[in-house]
Amino acid sequence: MPEIAVLSVVSELYPLVKTGGLADVSGALPGALAAVGVRMVSLIPGYPAVMAALESAEEVHTFPDLFGGRARLLHAHAAGLELLVIDAPHLYDRPGSPYLAPGGVDWPDNAIRFAALSAVGAYVGAGHLGAFQPHVVHAHDWQAGLTAAYIYYGGAADRVATVMTVHNLAFQGKFPAEILPSIGLPPHAFSLGGVEFYGSVGYLKAGLLLSDRITTVSPTYALEITTPDGGMGLDGLLRAKANALVGIVNGIDTSVWNPATDPLIEASFDAKSMKGRAINKAVLQRAFGIDVDPSRPLFGLVSRLSWQKGPDLLLESASALIAAGGQLVVLGSGDHTFENAFRGLVAAHPDRIGVVVGYDEALAHRVQAGSDVILVPSRFEPCGLTQLCALRYGALPLVARVGGLADTVIDANEAALAAGVATGFQFAPTTADMLQRALARVAALWDDRERWGRMQKNAMTMDVSWAGPAARYAALYREVLAERR
Ligand code: ADP
Ligand code: GLC
Repeated sequence: MPEIAVLSVVSELYPLVKTGGLADVSGALPGALAAVGVRMVSLIPGYPAVMAALESAEEVHTFPDLFGGRARLLHAHAAGLELLVIDAPHLYDRPGSPYLAPGGVDWPDNAIRFAALSAVGAYVGAGHLGAFQPHVVHAHDWQAGLTAAYIYYGGAADRVATVMTVHNLAFQGKFPAEILPSIGLPPHAFSLGGVEFYGSVGYLKAGLLLSDRITTVSPTYALEITTPDGGMGLDGLLRAKANALVGIVNGIDTSVWNPATDPLIEASFDAKSMKGRAINKAVLQRAFGIDVDPSRPLFGLVSRLSWQKGPDLLLESASALIAAGGQLVVLGSGDHTFENAFRGLVAAHPDRIGVVVGYDEALAHRVQAGSDVILVPSRFEPCGLTQLCALRYGALPLVARVGGLADTVIDANEAALAAGVATGFQFAPTTADMLQRALARVAALWDDRERWGRMQKNAMTMDVSWAGPAARYAALYREVLAERR
C-alpha cells in the first residue's frame, strides 16, 4: 500500500512539551502509524522547550509577517519525531506552560497564538512546501481548530482532506467576535456555517463543522458528546455530523509503561511473576510515609486535580476508604483547594494517607507499580490514560463508568467474575455515594486473593498498545482519501 502523509497540527507533544494526555497521544501516534504505512509529521509551536530540544533543523519557509512578527518554519527532528516547528518568538518565546502566563491565567493573545498554528497548518496542507505535501491534515483540540477553517476559506478547488480529533470538549476556544479581523479570516466566515458560535468565534466549533471527519478518543465519549448532557453546547452540531464522527480509544506507549523493564521502579515484575510488585508496594508506602503493611489494599490517584477528575468525591469518601481498611496515596496538582484538602487528610490519617502535590513522571510509575487499585472517579473522561497504565501494571482500576473509562475497564460484576474476564471496578453515576459502594466491593474482593490475582492477570495481558488504534486511524485516513477520488 502506498504511504500516506499526514500533517498533525497540535499544541503539545510528548516528550517535548506536555500538560496532559493530549501530548502523550500526539507524541505516540507518529511512531505507531509508521508501522502501518503512515508518515506523520507534527506541526508544533516553537516554545522554548521545543526549540531547545531540536536535534536538526532546516529552515523551509519564512513568513515575513505571521500575525504581528516575522516567523520561520523549520523542518526538524527531536526525540524520534519528525517535526515542522513554527519559530515565531513574538508568539511562542515565553516561559512556562504553553497556554498560561506565569500568574496562571491564559496569555491574553492565545486567540492569535493558536490561530497562527492553524494558519500555518493550512499553509502546509495546501501543498506550499516542496519537501512535504500531506494527503491529510489532522488537527487536535481547539488550539488547532481553525486549521479546517483556513483550509475551507482558502478556497482551493482541490482541498486537502481534514480530520479533527476532540480530546476534551470542555475546552472550546471561544473568543470575542472582535478578534475576527486580526486572525485573517474573511468577514463572511462569521456565520452559522463558519466560525460563529453563540455570537463568539468558536475555534473548536469551526474545526468540528468544517473537517471531513471528526474523531474522539473513545466510542462511549463519541456517543456522550452527541447528547445534551455531554455535548457542552456542541451536541446539535455533533448529531448533525454523526456519520462523520467516530471514537478511537487511545493506547499507551508499552515500552515506556512496561513493568518488566521499567527503570523508574524498584523491582520489575510481569503477569507470570508478581513478586516484584510486593516490593514496589512497600517502597511506595515508605515513600509516602504511611504504614508499610502488605495486608491493606493500597489505593492510588495520579491526576490533574480539577473538577473533571472528581477529586472532591474522593475527598468526601476518604473515611469510607479508611473504614474499608484501605490506604491512599495521591500524586496530583491543579486546583489549590483540592491540593490543600488532600494535605488535610494526611494530617488526620498520617499512617494511612500520603500525598505528594506536584507533577512527577517517575513517581507516577512508582504509584502504578505499587498500588493495588488506581482510582479514576472522573465526572467525564474522553479516554483517560492512567487506567490504561494501571491495567498494564496490575493495579486494578476503579473508575467512573463514563467515556473511555467505560470502554477500557471490565467491571467485576457477577457475570464477568464467573466468566473470568474482569479487570477492574466501575461505578455510576459519578457520586460520592456510588464511589463509596465501589470501595466496599473492592474491600470484599481484596479478601478473595485468588480472584484478585486472576483479575490482575487479565488486566496485565489486555492489549493497551497503540497497535490497534494506529490501524484504525490509518483505515480512517484511507477512507477519507478514497471518498475524494
Ligand atoms: P488528562 O489529559 O485529562 O489530564 P489523561 O488520563 O488522558 O488525563 O492523561 C494524563 C496524563 O498525565 C497521564 O500520562 C498521567 O499519568 C499524567 N499525570 C497526571 N497527573 C500527573 C502527576 N501529578 N504527575 C505525573 N503524571 C501525571
Ligand atoms: C484529554 C482527556 C483525556 C484523554 C486525553 C488524550 O486530556 O481529558 O481523557 O485521555 O485528552 O486523548
